[in-house]
Amino acid sequence: MGKLYIRGGRPLSGTVRISGSKNAVLPIIAACLLPTSPCTLHDIPDLADVHTICLVLQHLGAQIKRNGTTLEIVPPIKPNTEAPYEFVRQMRASFLVMGPLLARSGLAAISLPGGCAIGSRPVDLHLKGFNMLGAHIEHGYGSIRAEIGIGGLQGKHIYLDFPSVGATENIIMAAVLAKGQTVIENAAEEPEIVDLANFLDAMGANIKGAGTKEVKITGVRELHGVTHTVIPDRIEAGTYLIAGAITGGNILIKNVIADHVKPVLAKLFEMGIAVYEEYEGLRVIGRKHYNAVDVKTMPYPGFPTDMQPQIMALMTCAKGTSIITETVFENRFMHISELKRMGALIKTVGRNAVIQGPVTLSGAPVKATDLRAGAALVLAGLCSKGITEVSNVHHIERGYEHFLEKLQNLGADIWGSDLDI
Ligand code: UD1
Repeated sequence: MGKLYIRGGRPLSGTVRISGSKNAVLPIIAACLLPTSPCTLHDIPDLADVHTICLVLQHLGAQIKRNGTTLEIVPPIKPNTEAPYEFVRQMRASFLVMGPLLARSGLAAISLPGGCAIGSRPVDLHLKGFNMLGAHIEHGYGSIRAEIGIGGLQGKHIYLDFPSVGATENIIMAAVLAKGQTVIENAAEEPEIVDLANFLDAMGANIKGAGTKEVKITGVRELHGVTHTVIPDRIEAGTYLIAGAITGGNILIKNVIADHVKPVLAKLFEMGIAVYEEYEGLRVIGRKHYNAVDVKTMPYPGFPTDMQPQIMALMTCAKGTSIITETVFENRFMHISELKRMGALIKTVGRNAVIQGPVTLSGAPVKATDLRAGAALVLAGLCSKGITEVSNVHHIERGYEHFLEKLQNLGADIWGSDLDI
């Protein structure tokens, strides 16, 4: 789909089911290169990024069958070792196959992901980890080639300068078949890492401490295929919480783990928005007026950077001055110029955005510059006067399953067009 059109002003109501987590699924699919027998994965969202990682795995020799929301993945007996640029340029997370390839074949050649809209996003921490485990790393022709010496991968103590989600996952996947124990210190603590570790442990790996700052992996000789259901997507859940709040609606969000959205819930409570835990999920009840708050993005359990654009849209309608400090990515304010086109009053000073509210937003043609920025513009459109036209919808399709249909089911006046001119 090329464009989304939203006629704002309708309070959303009804029930929405959250899909499986995109950010949990991507490393879990990469990890399907590790076992010697097939894996079955349940609740796999139908998203462009999931399609890309499947293409990467197929290129490496895996066989993949989709049946509804279930994927069956047969690992290759001897994987290819190269992931070319055509895949990695589409999605940086393709780099997550490097750890499993090193563990399975001792060799991996992956194109460099390069920059992206929200920052330069290097992979130095991934490479530092592989190097410490015994891989020799070479750069050249836009690719990185990693190869293990005769001794194989050897467990080591690895300290991450920053708790990178991708580096923690990639190093865990390399270490599960290494000799001895690997300890990752200052590891990322995101729920997606716990889900990956649970998946690997079920396959026969020995991982302790996932979800804390210190993860210990004791290498095993072999892993076997398993069946696994991925966790619900906490960022999708957070986005619907804000959709309920920003429209003054009443939505029941099903298939959500309340603990995973705690940092978002804390800010909504501070703003004066009611969220109730019910038997079937979380119910958000919006209101007409709410308070300004300050938000600082941080690694989990801090406020997620992936919810920063969406909460900014909500802040435009809050009474007073809100401040957002973005500490995770250096260039994640691209949505601000688009929100300003809709009438938002926002100033930026370095990594801080100062949002003055409340304003009544008005519909305008705007462009999604990345996945979460796109979601924020749709949220802004839902509470705007007139029609908002969001282009570059392919960004949104990377991470929100059936976004249009789910919002329509909640009563939003939203429709799409295939043209993007
Ligand atoms: C993952 C998520 C993404 C989320 C991000 C932060 C997936 C597929 N994506 O991305 O949605 O926004 O976590 O919560 O799970 N960094 C380095 N060197 C490295 C690696 C990272 O400097 O080797 C920096 C990055 O440039 C960035 C910060 O660390 O500034 C966080 O990146 P990281 O946690 O690695 O994010 P991703 O795993 O890419």
